[in-house]
Amino acid sequence: MKVGIIGTGMVGSSTTYRLIEKGVADKLVMTDIIEGMPQGKGLDMLEATPILGVDVDVLGSNDLADLEGCDIVVCTAGFPRQPGMTRMDLLKKNLGIVKPCAEGIRKHAPDSKVIVVTNPLDIMTYATLKTTGFEPNRVCGMAGMLDTTRFKTFVAMELGVSVRDVVTIVLGGHGDSMVPLPRYSNVSGIPITDLLSQEQIDRIVDRTRKAGTEIVSLLKKGSAFYAPGAAIADMVESIAKDLKRIMPACTYLDGEYGFKDVCAGVPVILGKNGVEKVIELKLNEDERAQFSKSVNELVKTIDQIKSEKLI
Ligand code: NAI
Ligand code: 2OP
Repeated sequence: MKVGIIGTGMVGSSTTYRLIEKGVADKLVMTDIIEGMPQGKGLDMLEATPILGVDVDVLGSNDLADLEGCDIVVCTAGFPRQPGMTRMDLLKKNLGIVKPCAEGIRKHAPDSKVIVVTNPLDIMTYATLKTTGFEPNRVCGMAGMLDTTRFKTFVAMELGVSVRDVVTIVLGGHGDSMVPLPRYSNVSGIPITDLLSQEQIDRIVDRTRKAGTEIVSLLKKGSAFYAPGAAIADMVESIAKDLKRIMPACTYLDGEYGFKDVCAGVPVILGKNGVEKVIELKLNEDERAQFSKSVNELVKTIDQIKSEKLI
């Protein structure tokens, strides 16, 4: 199992370290445009492996050709958000980075499954899908796993219980209009609607929607990376080990949930073929309206960048 990580910044290196800890791959290659940096981080991680007790090759590189033979490629290359910046502000800057990376994946790792991370996530996933020309099941994006783990954290904090028993789900685009679903969330099977008041749930939902911004304003420079790295590693593991876990992922919709030709966050089964199935939840009227609002924003952005011939 060879996994490639494009972009060896905060998210790329956290992801790689987490993948080493989990023993997911035999070979890991991290690439970046900054000379020496991926090589240095790769060597540093390799020197941690005797303590971690994991046998793995870790290669740092400035050449996408080293992705050759990768089964899975994660793309984290691009600029993170700075305070005051929305994910959409990043759009054009990061399209100019992600598209050449996608071309590199197509050329050097033509049989790989791809997990996109660069923001704005849903649009970058769509751009990667179109640029690689891969089948839609082979390209997905990570965001729902991050939004979901944040939602879980806040539920556990509010109730003073272990995070281990909390199940939550978040749908839609990775932005302020994302759709956390309290009705599908529980602690050891007990619906959170039985455990928390509406005021508490509303507060947690709001904090989940703004959780990325909360970290950006605390860090002052850059955005979250530990929770994203952990979330990406779980997705990589589910594909690498064919675990068939049900996870929220950004995937191409071809009629599911009433949308076509857009990538958005929905629950999927992740296995050796990538996105093996999209699960359609029976949303109620209010949930469906929120989901449609979120996805329609993505459709509008895709139309805009298509009209500017950016994709
Ligand atoms: P960072 O600035 O620490 O790292 C980005 C790295 O990409 C840099 O090392 C840079 O040199 C590299 N890079 C730029 N162009 C490249 C190219 N053409 N080829 C290879 N590498 C290239 O940023 P960080 O914090 O790692 O974030 C990376 C991206 O992930 C950002 O766009 C951020 O918004 C996004 N992100 C998305 C999340 C999600 O839930 N989808 C969560 C966290 C971050
Ligand atoms: C986040 O939600 C930066 O999108 C990233 O933290």
